[in-house]
Amino acid sequence: MNPTIDLLLSRRSAPPQTLLGPGPTPEEIETLLRIASRIPDHGKLAPWRFIVLEGEGRKRAGEIAVRLFAADNPDADESRLAPERARFCRAPLVIAVVSRAKPHVKIPEWEQVLSAGAASMNLEIAANALGYRSSWVTEWCAYDRRFCEAIGLLPHEKIAGFIHIGRPSAVIEDRARPKLEEIVTRL
Ligand SMILES: Cc1cc2nc3c(=O)[nH]c(=O)nc-3n(C[C@H](O)[C@H](O)[C@H](O)COP(=O)(O)O)c2cc1C
Repeated sequence: MNPTIDLLLSRRSAPPQTLLGPGPTPEEIETLLRIASRIPDHGKLAPWRFIVLEGEGRKRAGEIAVRLFAADNPDADESRLAPERARFCRAPLVIAVVSRAKPHVKIPEWEQVLSAGAASMNLEIAANALGYRSSWVTEWCAYDRRFCEAIGLLPHEKIAGFIHIGRPSAVIEDRARPKLEEIVTRL
């Protein structure tokens, strides 16, 4: 085998709360972003962009989440508010992958959306190759337009995922994988 194949055959997600600091260095973050943007992209539209949340930025995102949650749940006490405030502080680094897909004269929007998925996955693979673990989650914030607007998304932009990245703190057992005979056919 080779290291890339070994990584792809063994990588699995680690829950955000198991991802510890220190997170990637500035140079490593740049490497991650270069790899995330080096993906198939029909029409060279770059129909995605990235928002890096680390340090205080994670706290600012959490303040937005808790403000919205509190507005929607006026009876929520601190035991329910605290996890919202800490939502983006579970891992030392969170990179939001933003899909910028929009109607185009030639390139179907669907293909632009798929490209954002490829960016997200490349980011995960690169993080794991650097020795970190990762988790691709959306959770409620990704689907709350008030949250999206507050972190700077334009009306046509969507969160493809919040990729949480940090150091492993636990051995995560693999999960069952689809049987190839159930998902592969041949013509
Ligand atoms: C677009 C997308 C959004 C996801 N959102 C969540 C989420 O909000 N919460 C969650 O527990 N898992 C979410 N997942 C699933 C995890 O990323 C991951 O697939 C799962 O933990 C199993 O990981 P593994 O097969 O990489 O080991 C999402 C996956 C995708 C592709």
